[in-house]
Amino acid sequence: MYWDKPRLGRNDACWCGSGKKYKKCHAAFDVHMEELYEQGFLLPYHDTLKGPHDIEGIKRSAEINIGILDYVADHIGPGVTTEQIDQWVYDYTIEHGGTPADLGYEGYPKSVCTSINEVVCHGIPSKDDVLKEGDIVNVDCSTILDGYYSDSSRMFCIGEVSEERKKLVQVTREAMLKGLEQVKPWELLGNVGAAVKQHAETHGYSVVREFGGHGIGFDFHEDPFVSHVSEPNTGMVMVPGMVFTIEPMINAGTQEINMSHPNGWTVVTADGKDTAQWEVQVLVTEDGYELLSW
Ligand code: MF3
Ligand code: CO
Repeated sequence: MYWDKPRLGRNDACWCGSGKKYKKCHAAFDVHMEELYEQGFLLPYHDTLKGPHDIEGIKRSAEINIGILDYVADHIGPGVTTEQIDQWVYDYTIEHGGTPADLGYEGYPKSVCTSINEVVCHGIPSKDDVLKEGDIVNVDCSTILDGYYSDSSRMFCIGEVSEERKKLVQVTREAMLKGLEQVKPWELLGNVGAAVKQHAETHGYSVVREFGGHGIGFDFHEDPFVSHVSEPNTGMVMVPGMVFTIEPMINAGTQEINMSHPNGWTVVTADGKDTAQWEVQVLVTEDGYELLSW
């Protein structure tokens, strides 16, 4: 059986927290899920699905996350250190009543990740990293508010950037958006990564395998793992109420990465070539998707 909790009566309050009667809320949904389960489809755990109250909470968290990245967009430029960006993120988050999800996460020492040029992800802000004209940098920000998690990242071009770098940033954004277009209820999650991979490889780039998107909301990283190199019509069913990120890391050179940085975090491309990433957080809805954080 898909759901091993005791069955709800038709007049009981629905499990999703909507306050509606089960029969008017998720009763038909649960019948459909049971059918899919019996047909062998991979389904999200019931307790990772978000109800209306949860979605409101995640949106309030995301409002801070979006505000931070908007603030960064307005203030970033040549001469800014990644340490300053970290301070902006910390201050903005605290002033708005949130907590930076990165800070102390598995021992991570800062409030945000700042990944410059050949840094794939998890660049640690430092006063020694001064952004200079021509750099491309990913700022990856995550917030907790009232226990709800939000997570998104954007690329920033510092001053005038080479055509090659501009193109990598643009194509990576397009690849993320192609993935997003594939978010449709009752279709399979593999379509997302397949679209990302297709777009990146068409432009001669490669896609990082080791990191992917993830379920999020009640916790920072939940099931499912969202691969950006999946095959179409494979993987978990996308179900209304699921929330996950799409966050492809696209390399200008080969897909190989180096994860043996002495600081234990910073990941770089193995060939030293540039890399880019965009991350959005998305809710699967009855008729498509809703962007929660960007
Ligand atoms: N924000 C990253 C993600 O997209 C996770 C960063 S974890 C940290 O999932 F500890 F490095 F901050
Ligand atoms: Co993420």
